[in-house]
Amino acid sequence: MPVEPNGHLLWVAPAVHGGATDRDRSSGGEALVDFSVNSNPYGPSPAALDAVRYVDITRYPDPDATALREAIGMKERVSADAVLPGNGSLEMMFLAAHAYLAAGDKALVFGPTFGEYARAAMVAGAEVVEATASPAGGYQFDGHAMNTALGTLAPRVAFICNPNNPTGRYVPAEALRALAARHPQTLFVIDEAYLPFVDRGESCVRPELLANVVVLRSMTKDGAMPGLRLGYALARPGLLDPLRTAQPTWSVNALAQAAGVATLRDTGHWARSIMAIHDAKRYLVGALHDLGCVLLPSDANYFLWQVRGARGWRQALLTRGCLVRDCSSFGMRGYLRVSVRTSPECERLVEAVRWVQAQAGLEHEQR
Ligand SMILES: Cc1ncc(COP(=O)(O)O)c(C=O)c1O
Repeated sequence: MPVEPNGHLLWVAPAVHGGATDRDRSSGGEALVDFSVNSNPYGPSPAALDAVRYVDITRYPDPDATALREAIGMKERVSADAVLPGNGSLEMMFLAAHAYLAAGDKALVFGPTFGEYARAAMVAGAEVVEATASPAGGYQFDGHAMNTALGTLAPRVAFICNPNNPTGRYVPAEALRALAARHPQTLFVIDEAYLPFVDRGESCVRPELLANVVVLRSMTKDGAMPGLRLGYALARPGLLDPLRTAQPTWSVNALAQAAGVATLRDTGHWARSIMAIHDAKRYLVGALHDLGCVLLPSDANYFLWQVRGARGWRQALLTRGCLVRDCSSFGMRGYLRVSVRTSPECERLVEAVRWVQAQAGLEHEQR
């Protein structure tokens, strides 16, 4: 008899993510600008790049990531034992699912959203149920609709992406905290990967950590180091303990720990980046509106653009060296997701859109 894996794993599909593939690079050329990933276009803090050069990789990393937890605790105004760093916030999603979900449990996701929540829950053997926001309402969830879904489905775990990917819609932290208080039997895993990009966005961590809330933060988006992998969970220590138990030792490597501490100390790099990103967003949204593009409101550093023939648009923009995300893998046909990059790069995208529109106009005239 061959050795069989756990049967439920056969049903878990691989996730689709943004990011330029080798094929995109060969179509888009050497100077391809990647608007399909949502990270800080100004790159990592120079202090982080410097810090990794001095790491001694002949030694194991600190298994408790003490310096990093202390630096995160200071930034988030929580104690260091309310912080659990991980190999990207993705690891924390899977650890939360592993720690709190078992076969037959229900996990609720608020879609359309980041596909890894469903994967994490399914890998843990849980059943995934999706409450879906309506296109008519611009894909905005409100506290009332979320409360109804939570009340009807009574999930053991609810994954909430705030602001949501791919829609960029943000639900005020106050509303999410009220939901958590109303549904104490559900663990709320609140993914705030893109919260640093939201103007005046509030974290669910404050004013104090709630008994059934685990907040996830990523350092790969604002810190622009997705290749290094670094994120963390914030929760009451008792809630984090099972995640810590399930986490492999040395999950956060020495380079990531050093880069994380240096990034947190270099507040100036982030302050300059976020101001420039807000300016570039204002410009890009305004310029695309002026070209007649239909954009959905977004609170984040990316937004949805409703088009006819998303695949065709993606390909046409790629030939002009601009890569955007076709949202069909989110189950959303007819939408592109565009990330805000530096102002000159945004100008290049606007030029590319103008060019594609002109080509379409020419074709139309020739018909
Ligand atoms: C909403 C959301 N959360 C988490 C992640 C993963 O972040 P990390 O690189 O910290 O694992 C992504 C990556 O695309 C994301 O879009």
